[in-house]
Amino acid sequence: MRTPLIAGNWKMHKTLAEARELVAEIREGVAAISGVEILICPPVQLLFPMAKAVAGSAIMLGAQTAHEEPHGAFTGEVSVSMLKDAGCSHVIIGHSERRVHFGETGALLAKKVRAVTGAGLQVIYCLGETLEEREGGRMDEVVLRQLEEVVGPDLPAGRLVIAYEPIWAIGTGRTATPEQAQEVHALIRSKLGSIYGPALAEEIRILYGGSVKPANASELLARQDIDGALVGGACLVAGDFVAILSAAAETSSVVG
Ligand code: 13P
Repeated sequence: MRTPLIAGNWKMHKTLAEARELVAEIREGVAAISGVEILICPPVQLLFPMAKAVAGSAIMLGAQTAHEEPHGAFTGEVSVSMLKDAGCSHVIIGHSERRVHFGETGALLAKKVRAVTGAGLQVIYCLGETLEEREGGRMDEVVLRQLEEVVGPDLPAGRLVIAYEPIWAIGTGRTATPEQAQEVHALIRSKLGSIYGPALAEEIRILYGGSVKPANASELLARQDIDGALVGGACLVAGDFVAILSAAAETSSVVG
């Protein structure tokens, strides 16, 4: 039985005052929610104050990227041990915005995920196809390549979460249908089975990301291989994020 994980990727949003307000509202909203893991991933300068803001609640803290080296002359970068220091339990690696805008390649991401798991943190490794790749019939090939480039038997399965985020669904309001998402999640789980064996593959959470909203969360999360969500826009509004968490809690209580 996989506990759903709902992660909010704040991207480059929120000042300190705005973040404090948002987290206070989320805290209030999630007090009655159980059976779901809750994660917020604010921008890096907010990690220390947000660690204080979530203290004593069930809300966990994550980062949106990390450098692959433990320390050194890398101006502007932050290492995994620094993120751990700030209170992070998770790090998102390989978001499509990092791949597209910052040129992050599979080889680099393979190092980054190992830096994260090597420090004892959970990695949320993102992958997903463009619309052109989907329409060109290359979706399976692209998703499997992104998985194989980075995930191998040396990577501890217990510290791995996968996020399937079709690029055409990110920030567009255009969500994959539950059937489309389930199909890719099942493909990913089957590949994880060939890497780790079917029993371990059953334990790995596969999140869906791309225009997840309160209105579509329940039907997505009800699918067999959709174990949570990586939420962008809707996680910046406390009411929406809490509604998605509630949908996950209901689904998990039905399944469980
Ligand atoms: P949206 O929910 O805004 O589409 O963003 C998804 C995403 O990129 C989460 O990482």
